[in-house]
Amino acid sequence: MTTKDLIWWNLETLFPVEEEIPAQYSYGSPISHTEYLINGEIRHWNGQMQDIFSPVCLDTDNGPVKKLLGTSPLLTEKEALEALDAAYLAYNNGTGEWPTMAVEDRIKAMEKFVVAMKEQRALVVKTLMWEIGKTLKDSEKEFDRTVEYIIDTIDAYKNLDRDSAQYEFEQGIIGKIRRCPLGVVLCMGPFNYPLNETFTTLIPALLMGNTVLFKPAKIGVLLHRPLLEAFKNSFPKGVINIVFGRGRETVGPLMKTGKINVLAFIGTSKSANILKMQHPKPNRLRSVLALEAKNPAIVLDHADIDLAVNECILGALSYNGQRCTALKILFVHNSVVDEFNYKFTEALGKLKWGMPWEKDVQITPLPEPEKPAFLNELIEDAISKGASIINEGGATVHQTFYAPAVVYPVTKDMKLYHEEQFGPVVPIVSFEKIEEVIQYMVESNYGQQVSLFGTDREEMAGLIDKFVNQVCRVNINSQCQRSPDVYPFNGRKDSGEGTLSVVDALRTFSIRAMVAAKEISANKEMLRGIIKDRQSNFMSTDFIF
Ligand code: G3H
Repeated sequence: MTTKDLIWWNLETLFPVEEEIPAQYSYGSPISHTEYLINGEIRHWNGQMQDIFSPVCLDTDNGPVKKLLGTSPLLTEKEALEALDAAYLAYNNGTGEWPTMAVEDRIKAMEKFVVAMKEQRALVVKTLMWEIGKTLKDSEKEFDRTVEYIIDTIDAYKNLDRDSAQYEFEQGIIGKIRRCPLGVVLCMGPFNYPLNETFTTLIPALLMGNTVLFKPAKIGVLLHRPLLEAFKNSFPKGVINIVFGRGRETVGPLMKTGKINVLAFIGTSKSANILKMQHPKPNRLRSVLALEAKNPAIVLDHADIDLAVNECILGALSYNGQRCTALKILFVHNSVVDEFNYKFTEALGKLKWGMPWEKDVQITPLPEPEKPAFLNELIEDAISKGASIINEGGATVHQTFYAPAVVYPVTKDMKLYHEEQFGPVVPIVSFEKIEEVIQYMVESNYGQQVSLFGTDREEMAGLIDKFVNQVCRVNINSQCQRSPDVYPFNGRKDSGEGTLSVVDALRTFSIRAMVAAKEISANKEMLRGIIKDRQSNFMSTDFIF
């Protein structure tokens, strides 16, 4: 059997017969998800629904068929605007119960939510795995990382509040400074980290006293259903509202009302620009955006090639390359490119393909139906301009499965050189002078991260100083990644706006406000009374333990 035959044989046997799936991983019957959350009420939708299919196919007598996971509501502009009204009213121009609540009480609500969220772990993880094809291990990691993020955010908020407990005295003016909410936040997350990335905006937004309207992406919808009750039971009515449906019908009308104060969006810069421009008063809109990227790995002639190969495999192909932080182009010095390509394709050949629940599986089916055709188009363009697929069986498509492809040599005139592929295609460029790579980064539309592989301290140091002004994170002999979540996550150019990290996000979703009083005895007397009789949450000197 040739390698190609072997690949086809493996692919033919890739998808399971439903009855053979181990019971603990089996999805079961499709669910009818009709619920959505508005104004503290879980409502049921009896209008148009959309079918939700898994990227996982089942082997049937008629060949592989995508598993139907259930149906989900296609709400309309009317329900989206109702949700906005609920959030708007709960905020009530900053006078609502939630934005004026004591910090300690908002923290208690969030703690109640985490407890209820943790009870849904098994169901959320299983749905995540089936809905977006993420491995079981990574789905569990996404859930646990999100819980940890919430707990860390609560701790960071306590620290922030402790710092605000005191009063300032400057030039005869007494000052009390605290961070206050901004208003109504529209949160929209991506399909690849539908829980984690969404919650990295939604949770700090809520905690700081904003009210939220959350609409999940087109893919990665059902996993939110088990959390609706937890949201409903943990927060006052209208503080968090969750709607499902097409972005075009629901989100555009929301922006046009001008009642959205913060847009927290993770997706493409094209969509972000459209949304921002729909707001009638752009000056009132704050945006927190995590957008596309084309993070390069640069393998210098003095790099430890084995280490670079391992990190580039992880960086380019974890979750099939569907991470905003993935390595999406590899620049390898021409003196080591043959060795690198050999070792890289060899390592890639050892990655395990399969279903998300299989032990040690790394390459899984893709959730976006149009992705294989898009990847093929990029590859065809590269091949027509002189590149080849250098790994056996690369780019072989079987239903939702796409065999990772390494494309070499990629050059400036190819789409793969500039466009974000967001999938299992690895373009390799061979370079002679580092200036070529610097120029690439300067001219790129993106500026999220870079991975730099090398051992020559002098050259590495010089490049670090140049690259920190091109991207926001320079990874030394390591793949690109967002974690740990306490570190800043952001991007230059079309890769983002604003900074997210546990601490930064609390700042991003709030504004400093202050109360100032001249140091005269009448004012001091009044402030003393307010503090002693606990008449104001803002003026409080309480120290949260
Ligand atoms: O898609 C973007 C994710 O936030 C990446 O997170 O780099 O930690 O996997 P990660």
